[in-house]
Amino acid sequence: MPDVTLTTLQSLKQNGEKIAMLTCYDATYAHAACQAGVDVLLVGDSLGMVLQGHDSTLPVSVEEMAYHTACVKRGNQGALIVTDLPFMAYATTEQALNNSAKLMQAGAHMVKLEGAGWLAEPIRLLAERGVPVCAHLGLTPQAVNILGGYKVQGRQEAQARQMRADAMALEQAGAAMLLLECVPSELAAEITQAVKIPVIGIGAGSATDGQVLVQHDMLGLSLSGRAPKFVRNFMEGQGSIQGAFSAYVQAVKDGSFPAAEHGFSA
Ligand code: KIV
Repeated sequence: MPDVTLTTLQSLKQNGEKIAMLTCYDATYAHAACQAGVDVLLVGDSLGMVLQGHDSTLPVSVEEMAYHTACVKRGNQGALIVTDLPFMAYATTEQALNNSAKLMQAGAHMVKLEGAGWLAEPIRLLAERGVPVCAHLGLTPQAVNILGGYKVQGRQEAQARQMRADAMALEQAGAAMLLLECVPSELAAEITQAVKIPVIGIGAGSATDGQVLVQHDMLGLSLSGRAPKFVRNFMEGQGSIQGAFSAYVQAVKDGSFPAAEHGFSA
């Protein structure tokens, strides 16, 4: 059992204290992130891009996610571990159940699924069977070929209305947490107010209950040499990775990250 549980995250939301989440793919970085006070470690399928060098997250397998989850578990010191179900690993409810079991048995405390309203069914089945789920809305990188690129989502009123409705429906279905990626700050603030479960943002402004960044991005490491607008390089002014992780946690907790310049308007 981790020290940080769903109850911890719920109370952080209720008390208006920010949740610091960071992607993590191995034991040593998990240890360093925990030392810095990170609440939630996300074993993201972003590992397909930042570790494996692919140009999308689509090639990542369930076995690879389970392997990295087991690595993170060995270095974890009390954080809640959330692991992504990768592309097509939850296309049917049977796959969602079987593949979530593999990730939970590898050490995840929660699984994350990308999508929209259609996630209600797998979320309900998983939650009923003891698997907490984080629903990822907005820019969902596994759907990059449908979205036509890594673009801000929810700018048009109809899209924004749909995202609000999806968030409420997924909470109703039993989602334990929401993650909003690249969503206008105002819309993310409305969704955060509207649901009782914790909402984590990435490129979603400062009003969400917590923040997440991809570890390589916040350390200033990138294969393309370009960082997304919503990223701050936390290595600046720090002499070590440990220092950068601590600066990130502090900035999330005191609300100084993200600043207005890291967000998107409608
Ligand atoms: O895979 C990942 O790292 C993610 C983050 C971008 C939130 O889903």
